[in-house]
Amino acid sequence: MKKVYLDYGATTPVDKDVLNEILPFFHERFGNASSIHSYGKEAFDAVENAREKVSDIINCKANEIVFTSGGTESDNLAIKGVAYINKDKRKTKGNHIITSAIEHPAVLETCRHLEKQGFNVKYLPVDKYGIVNTKDLEDAISANTFLVTIMYANNEIGTVEPIEELGKITKEHNVLFHTDAVQAITKISIDVIKLNIDLLSVSAHKIYGPKGTGALYVKNGIKLEPTAHGGGHEKGLRSSTLNTPGIVGIGKACEIGKKRMKKDTFYMKILRDKLIKNVLEIEESYLNGHPEKRLANNAHFRFTAVEGESLNLMLDDKGIAAATGSACSSKKLQTSHVLLAIGVNPKEAHGSIRFTLGKYTSKEEIEYVSDALPEIVKRLRKMSPLWNR
Ligand SMILES: Cc1ncc(COP(=O)(O)O)c(C=O)c1O
Repeated sequence: MKKVYLDYGATTPVDKDVLNEILPFFHERFGNASSIHSYGKEAFDAVENAREKVSDIINCKANEIVFTSGGTESDNLAIKGVAYINKDKRKTKGNHIITSAIEHPAVLETCRHLEKQGFNVKYLPVDKYGIVNTKDLEDAISANTFLVTIMYANNEIGTVEPIEELGKITKEHNVLFHTDAVQAITKISIDVIKLNIDLLSVSAHKIYGPKGTGALYVKNGIKLEPTAHGGGHEKGLRSSTLNTPGIVGIGKACEIGKKRMKKDTFYMKILRDKLIKNVLEIEESYLNGHPEKRLANNAHFRFTAVEGESLNLMLDDKGIAAATGSACSSKKLQTSHVLLAIGVNPKEAHGSIRFTLGKYTSKEEIEYVSDALPEIVKRLRKMSPLWNR
């Protein structure tokens, strides 16, 4: 059976060039980057080389990159790190955090955890496309606010937030600005200096690197409380022996991602728009998210009277891999908090599906999906009591 992978938003295959770069670090070059002998020095040099490459793609200094185990840990370290440091200074700077209603659970659940510890969190609403209103942010900031955390681009509907404007506002109010750029990195050119970003999370496995590795940009001068204590690795922010293969992998993935960004996003956009055009020809089908301000690889739809899980399973029967929500919540069958936040009613939210393209997606694959989908939707509607046209 033909197999078509359109779930690059969940994870990507490791690029062969990334893989070749990583492999020697499992056996021949296995040293501990903290050891002072030649084995350690070799690993240390590889880690520092990767740090340069990660810093290069967001225009920060290499010593502003902290390696982590992924996007989730980066988000936790950024938010809890700032919050816990701030806790001691609560008398001077308050206890207020601002985020958005459509963040990834790595941010939302961290904020909810902090609420239980006495922090005050404001969840900004979004418009029907998933965009945060800059005026809402401006209004929400108070003398007690110490952190704003708003994602660069949404993992479900692909909407890209007005990060430059948000960064301007946080700077004017002297509030720290963290952004989860896990889905945006390598698809959008990011300059943390120009955008006034203080903390930024990335993950390797969304950009053709290995799973289990991420990075957090921490602007020099910002103090964080570590989330893991131990040997003092990564400037004391993230103790644990460095995952040299993973770090080498995220470095190479960023290097390739930066080099290919223009070409890959241009290519994916053409295919994405072709898919959107084809799918929207299906009766009562709608695009979720913003028509233009969206990730180059994201096409997210909803269909009246169609159950998303059944749609996903029937696509899978045809060898097509898509997603009904974010990868981490799609097995829970919960209504997507993102779709609810953009005003989609729960019934319709369940009729949604996400296709995320990648650099290996072909025109033929998009045609295959475009041909298969109308028939599947028709079959599901035939079985649905909600479809009486
Ligand atoms: C926007 C966003 N943030 C954070 C994460 C978590 O990243 P990781 O899987 O590396 O922990 C994801 C993964 O789906 C994501 O899409």
